[in-house]
Amino acid sequence: MSDLVEITFLPEGRTAWVRAGATLVQAGEAAGVEIVMGCTRGMCGTDPVRVASGVDGLSAPEPHETGTIERMGLGPDHRLACSAKLVRGPIVVETGVL
Ligand code: FES
Repeated sequence: MSDLVEITFLPEGRTAWVRAGATLVQAGEAAGVEIVMGCTRGMCGTDPVRVASGVDGLSAPEPHETGTIERMGLGPDHRLACSAKLVRGPIVVETGVL
């Protein structure tokens, strides 16, 4: 059970326990929250979420993800759901930030 990460999605208020290494999109599927994706590679910016708490529980962003977030004018509390992976919980993210 120790490789399961607690994650909650807002505003739906849905929580799931998801295996470490899963992306936020995969975690959303487990929680019953659909996150629309485009490129799946952190380039198009279709799927930003705001990390309300537990940002340290996500994998560190790759440079291309950071570049996309900056290009979109979003702050460092935002991640791309296709790219950010679960490391440890609890994590709370807010969808629908665009
Ligand atoms: S789907 Fe394109 S950045 Fe995530």
